[in-house]
Amino acid sequence: MRKIKESIFEVGAIDWDRRLFDKLIPTPDGTTYNAYLIKGSEKTALLDTVDPPKADVLFSNLAKADVSRIDYLVAHHAEQDHSGTINEVLMLYPEAKVVTNEKCKSMLMDHLETEEDKFIVVEDSQSISLGGKTLTFMNMPWVHWPETMVTYLAEDKILFSCDFFGSHLATNQLYAEQAENVYESAKRYYAEIMMPFRTHIKKHLARLADYEIDIIAPSHGPLYDNPEYIINAYKDWVSDDVKNEVVLPYVSMHDSTKTMVDHFVEALTERGIVVRQFNLAVTDLGKLAMALVDAATVVIGTGTVLTGAHPLAAYACFLANALRPKTRFASLIGSYGWGGKMPEQIQGLLSNMKVEFLEPVIAKGLPKQKDFAAIDELADKILSKHKEIGIIK
Ligand code: FEO
Repeated sequence: MRKIKESIFEVGAIDWDRRLFDKLIPTPDGTTYNAYLIKGSEKTALLDTVDPPKADVLFSNLAKADVSRIDYLVAHHAEQDHSGTINEVLMLYPEAKVVTNEKCKSMLMDHLETEEDKFIVVEDSQSISLGGKTLTFMNMPWVHWPETMVTYLAEDKILFSCDFFGSHLATNQLYAEQAENVYESAKRYYAEIMMPFRTHIKKHLARLADYEIDIIAPSHGPLYDNPEYIINAYKDWVSDDVKNEVVLPYVSMHDSTKTMVDHFVEALTERGIVVRQFNLAVTDLGKLAMALVDAATVVIGTGTVLTGAHPLAAYACFLANALRPKTRFASLIGSYGWGGKMPEQIQGLLSNMKVEFLEPVIAKGLPKQKDFAAIDELADKILSKHKEIGIIK
């Protein structure tokens, strides 16, 4: 349990050992499931719960905080890492009502089978008073599910933002400035789950500008007592600005593609373009997602398996397509043995990305002089495109 201010505590759990989320997202630095306890002069509220395997930590913290009654259990988000222990809390504190919006209520009934009479449904901007502590709820859909909401505690100027502004970082240090790797963890988190909802997040940031916020208290990772730090980082990530960077995820079976990748990296380097290269056979997909947040261009490198891209390259494209980064240009370099339709296939896999597809370079077997020349031309094309959009002077 960690005290934030008088009568306000963090009572969730640190998960030092978690290494994968949703059986998909790498969490190399673990995570936390923050839950917050707010004691008013009349009522007590618990904001969110924890992932079910950590329920005992939550209950132990509630006991330490001497909580004999919970009036309101605020559910910001129906995903189980925050909501999964709601029914257990309701069993231990049977007087508690789950306070949430209509959509989240419906999802909690679907996912947890929470009984309908346990809910108090609140509208956007509605407030409830705990006695000297006023909670105002704001619907902020698509950070990163459709039902998500946040709570603003007016008297203490704290925004409880749930997943929004979160980071997968296991630490017992309360505030971000005390913890290491916060920027990277927060960016990784944004890249992996928030990036597809950039447009929604822009609107939410604009709405929050009307509120005086001293502390942002997310449900993963450390809190921010300098909220501008994370707000400005988000503003940068959701902006339309891209950087003079090429993301180059590649996979090579017999080194033809790797030889092309090496030549391409050299060509881009000579032209002053930053390269972020990822060997898909070993890469942390979270790092690849982070690189996609900012880069102007993505170029896939892959050999041909049967008639198509290597499955690792196809997977990377599928992932990038789902994350919908603001990338402006895309292309492909690679090789084949006897035939194939890789360019059409890769282009099809990236159909969600609003990119201009630049002429790919595909070599038969080992790359020859003409293939290296074509790679130089691709590097020239990328340079001129980056100049065209004003990211190189
Ligand atoms: Fe941390 Fe979307 O749950």
